[in-house]
Amino acid sequence: MPMEKQNDQSRMDRIVSLAKRRGFIFQSSEIYGGLNGFWDYGPLGVALKRNLKDAWWHDMLTGHDELAVPPGAPAAYEMVGLDCTIIMHPQVWKCSGHFDLFHDWMIDCRESKKRYRYDHLHGRWATHRGKRLFIVTDQSGDEMAAHLQTRGQKAFGLRAKQVDEMTWEGDVVPLASEPALAEAVGPDATEPGTLTAPREFNLMFETRIGALAGDDDDRAFLRPETAQGIFVNFKNVLDTSRVRVPFGIGQIGKSFRNEITPRNFTFRSREFEQMEIEFFCRPADSTEWYRYWRDRRWKWYLDLGLTEGKLQLREHDKDELSHYSVGTADIEYAFPFLAAGEFGELEGIAHRGDFDLRSHMEGKLVRRDGELVVETGPDGKPRHRGSGKDLSYFDDVSRERYVPHVIEPSAGADRAVLAFLCDAYHEDEVPDEDGKPRSRTVLKLHPRLAPIKVAILPLVKKDGMPEVATDLYRSLKPYMACMYDEKGSVGRRYARQDEAGTPWCLTIDGQTLADKTVTLRDRDSLVQERVPIDAVVDMLRDRL
Ligand code: GAP
Repeated sequence: MPMEKQNDQSRMDRIVSLAKRRGFIFQSSEIYGGLNGFWDYGPLGVALKRNLKDAWWHDMLTGHDELAVPPGAPAAYEMVGLDCTIIMHPQVWKCSGHFDLFHDWMIDCRESKKRYRYDHLHGRWATHRGKRLFIVTDQSGDEMAAHLQTRGQKAFGLRAKQVDEMTWEGDVVPLASEPALAEAVGPDATEPGTLTAPREFNLMFETRIGALAGDDDDRAFLRPETAQGIFVNFKNVLDTSRVRVPFGIGQIGKSFRNEITPRNFTFRSREFEQMEIEFFCRPADSTEWYRYWRDRRWKWYLDLGLTEGKLQLREHDKDELSHYSVGTADIEYAFPFLAAGEFGELEGIAHRGDFDLRSHMEGKLVRRDGELVVETGPDGKPRHRGSGKDLSYFDDVSRERYVPHVIEPSAGADRAVLAFLCDAYHEDEVPDEDGKPRSRTVLKLHPRLAPIKVAILPLVKKDGMPEVATDLYRSLKPYMACMYDEKGSVGRRYARQDEAGTPWCLTIDGQTLADKTVTLRDRDSLVQERVPIDAVVDMLRDRL
């Protein structure tokens, strides 16, 4: 088991190194030492991420056939798009609940000056010569046990050969279940009692609006999700387009969360992009729509090539659900940085009932005696006043008025890119030009996601081959991202394209000049076929 984890971590390290080396992902502001939780996408990365977002936008919105009932859907439906601002009226976040509730618990260490997420800390009691300490770790999975061992050794000041003198008792438990902070030794501390009491920390980035900003009314927030922009525009969309319930509004855009401990490459970032749909439906049909969207989104990842065995669809238990949610499922991926058997969330599909639209009509809601009611302050007035606008809907088919229920498939673009990168990463052996086995790193990305679809390679820089290759490059360029490369041996050029995830290479050689055919090399099967040069454009367009 530890061996498997180690392999996975070193695999993750190799993926991160490829991402940097080949210009997929860089640390933000790297020349100034980087900024934790912020990432830049390089030339290949930006193309991969854009292809992913375009695939989502096409498959969910523009490519959706609104005249047909899709398999598994209760009815035909419409989809439209939206692009809202990052900074919105502060009342949006008060009514949505983010202002009061969008926080994590954090804990500081006075000795190491490090900050941790309270729910990420675990510990175990250890004793040495009558001294009993609660050793705390911020590691998870297989690394936890080894980390506890070294921290315990340090805390008791033991040499390696004395480690066995330390005895452990009980299981590893969350720090939150052990109130004994005085005996707790922080994950990077040597002395007990240096962890502070846990404190709440709102994850929204705060800013001020206007040059003379100063009082509390100028406080604004960078959006922590794109969803609220959709809810507050529900009526605008309804009034200005011809959509009728059931319909969905999709949006792709940046979101910001001041995560206490960003980690695992881009998995938990402070600035990231979301791809969210708010789907509005008749309350009586909402459970069916929830199931439809859960299954539809699951299939999307499979269709784009994620390995089914590494994906998990997890329905939340009742006690995991938000107070307003009728049902939520997560689509999760077995990222290599996680311990065997652990999964990380790619997307959540939530049945949110009428919570969001009602919150923006009436004010912030809370659940009391099983009912959603407006939360009131000590003066009996709404704690956070809603817009007062009527966001109900008159259904001219059923002749009823209702507040639509919402199904929300909410995906992270950066997490999806990371999952596709990890899944596509392979190391194998291929024969080199002399037929000898050569190890290669290859990204087996789905052609729709691949940053470059085809590379055009003249075998040598003479004999008219570059001219033919240039013409072919120009005839492909209007239809797909392609690249011309004449530098280095053809073997090295194939290797460069394999690392970039390019599904096809076209080689122009001596035979091309004689019979007007080129070699089409397939990245995954390594099959090389001769194709008439005139047929190449249509053939690749078909394959894409
Ligand atoms: N509107 C619902 C919502 O925002 P969420 O589960 O908090 O739900 C949705 O976020 C998705 O956004 C997640 O499944 C994940 O893919 C992505 N996401 C959330 N926080 C993230 C972070 N700190 N870094 C990268 N992606 C994140």
